[in-house]
Amino acid sequence: MFSRAPRSCLVMRSPCCILTRTKTIVLRLSRHALHRRLPHVYSIHCQALRCFCTDHSQSSKPYYITTPIFYVNASPHIGHVYSAVTADCLHRFKLLQGYNSRFATGTDEHGLKIQQAASNAGKDPLNFCTEVSESFKHVFQRCGILYTDYIRTTEKRHRQAVEHFWTVLHSKGFIYKGTYEGWYSTPDESFLTPTQVTDRTDSDGRQIKVSTESGHKVEWMKEDNYMFRLSDFRTELLHWLRLNPNIIQPAKFHHLVLQWLEDDIPDLSVSRQKSRLQWGISVPGDPEQIIYVWLDALVNYLTVVGYPQNHSQWWTAVHHVVGKDILKFHAIYWPAFLLAAGLPLPQTIFVHSHWTVEGKKMSKSLGNVINPLDAMEKFTVDGLRYFLLRQGVPDSDCDYYDDKVIKMCNSELADALGGLLNRCTAPSLNPTQVYPQFCNSCFPKEASEGLRGKAVSEDYRMVEAVSALPVLVEQHFENLHIYKALEAISACVRMTNAFVQRHAPWKLDRNNPGDQQWLDTILHVSLECLRMYGILLQPVVPDLADRILSRLGVMPEERSWDSLNFLMKCEGRDCGLEGRALGPDLGVLFNRLERSQVKGRTPKMATQHKSKS
Ligand code: MSP
Repeated sequence: MFSRAPRSCLVMRSPCCILTRTKTIVLRLSRHALHRRLPHVYSIHCQALRCFCTDHSQSSKPYYITTPIFYVNASPHIGHVYSAVTADCLHRFKLLQGYNSRFATGTDEHGLKIQQAASNAGKDPLNFCTEVSESFKHVFQRCGILYTDYIRTTEKRHRQAVEHFWTVLHSKGFIYKGTYEGWYSTPDESFLTPTQVTDRTDSDGRQIKVSTESGHKVEWMKEDNYMFRLSDFRTELLHWLRLNPNIIQPAKFHHLVLQWLEDDIPDLSVSRQKSRLQWGISVPGDPEQIIYVWLDALVNYLTVVGYPQNHSQWWTAVHHVVGKDILKFHAIYWPAFLLAAGLPLPQTIFVHSHWTVEGKKMSKSLGNVINPLDAMEKFTVDGLRYFLLRQGVPDSDCDYYDDKVIKMCNSELADALGGLLNRCTAPSLNPTQVYPQFCNSCFPKEASEGLRGKAVSEDYRMVEAVSALPVLVEQHFENLHIYKALEAISACVRMTNAFVQRHAPWKLDRNNPGDQQWLDTILHVSLECLRMYGILLQPVVPDLADRILSRLGVMPEERSWDSLNFLMKCEGRDCGLEGRALGPDLGVLFNRLERSQVKGRTPKMATQHKSKS
């Protein structure tokens, strides 16, 4: 009756089997330490997640995921956090599946706009960069971003990697000395063709030229510098993308890049004269030229994995998460550079759209830039993570406002999920506080046997939906449709609540053996559902998922993707949890957010420096 995940996608094993196979020390992580996000606890947490995955076919498989590195001219805002949380979610998902996953993030510290921002702040550029880079690190740690590598482009290892990369491109004849004449946008650090530029009147009534895409002001420049033979790679890039339609996710962005490549692409200026730009890496052998900041920045992905020495193992498993504004750099420039250097191309480029705030683009001048620390204070870390991933639709821009966060967290986390956990573990229904027994005659495997049992057809539909959830969630994660995965989980949570409501176990008579068996069965099925939701939600809301699983008495080594073996008793197999003591009651799963309380807190803007978006 139940449609189960195909074995090729999901390896189902009983918890007992997992226990014997996993010869690892069980690390019970201190929740307090995790809250404080101590770096060494991070690394233990990562190792632990890896250890607990028992699918040995994947345990040695590398997976390498990156965020863009963040410009240090602006303090972190929720848009940045969205890029980081998305990548973090995919990293945690891969760890759960048993991959050897590596996750890099960091800061982009060179270039004209950073040079100008440091000068405007009256600070030495490196000190300025260090200060802002630390603030990104702080926000990410607070937000549960489980990165394994943090890179700063001002590090020596990075300069060496960039110099090497440049030398390879130059020695292969892909870089030549030329003259660039055209438009340049400093806020975007981007060269633009005349068709990418439009007229606008600025706030002082002056006629200016702006980038059509970003709206940022552009300037005309003419400079002798080094050019990269980008035009040579157009056909090869088209071929690569046509042959691999899943490289750029979601598909909408894949089509967009193909469209861009329909037109000729001009060669790219890859250096600036030192007279204009000092804050960067010098061109090897020509100290009068500084390497273009995007070439410098993109190489960070290679630096992290040890380029030019030890990168091979990781480089073939690289996946990038990027915002739509930097798609051109990642889907055209970067693959062209890699082809020129003779290196493999990325496996996936996950693209997401942008967050607006109450219908408007986030900007310092509008005073609507959302500080993630402030948002986490109001909604908790899990509340903010859940909202961003549940509401964030990568294909189109999403709007952020407090009421929306409150509504979503209250209805889905506090009421639906928290209410379900609370009801099904309440001492009034479960006085012995153990994982209850499942009774096959109350809930026979096939609905057709229903005459003998007490389960009704809706119950079978729910079980079917929950059984199918892991494959569905996996599919949605792989396409960067995390919100669809969460939508599916949320729909199942609603079905489980309806299941409990329908059978009203609180009305059953504990002194009647028949009722008692059915009551335990209702609770067993509900806890099994909750166990599935807890495991599946770990990449999204790690703390909340941990609370669910701990309350159910699920051990750390029983939380991997392999443990998504739903309702084994119904299949006539063993359930290792049956009869086991539940974990301690940790209180309310997610406290309802009160509008007055949230509004009462003064929102702090991400002020510090000029924001890009
Ligand atoms: N430094 C470059 C990336 C170099 S990667 C080799 C950069 N930095 S950024 O700080 O401006 O942006 C970093 C990420 O934040 C990008 O993915 C960008 O799309 C994302 N966001 C910036 N503003 C955003 C929103 N308002 N909403 C969602 N994401 C946004 O570009």
